[in-house]
Amino acid sequence: MYVCVCKAVTDNQIKRAIDNGICTRRQLFQCFGVGSDCGKCNRHVKELLDDHLQEQSIMQAASNQPVLNAC
Ligand code: FES
Repeated sequence: MYVCVCKAVTDNQIKRAIDNGICTRRQLFQCFGVGSDCGKCNRHVKELLDDHLQEQSIMQAASNQPVLNAC
């Protein structure tokens, strides 16, 4: 699903970027340009980022591995 229509960026692209170590909206902006045109996607981008980072944190805690934050 498109999150940022202006830049044609999907939720899967954003999730993949987070999995690869992106952890701030600024970094997403630098990589994809999300939020740089109309700005309507900013809230959804923040929710995706927060939810996906929280998921990663839970998965790391559940696997009993030390939490390595890429940020
Ligand atoms: S929808 Fe993302 S900048 Fe317009």
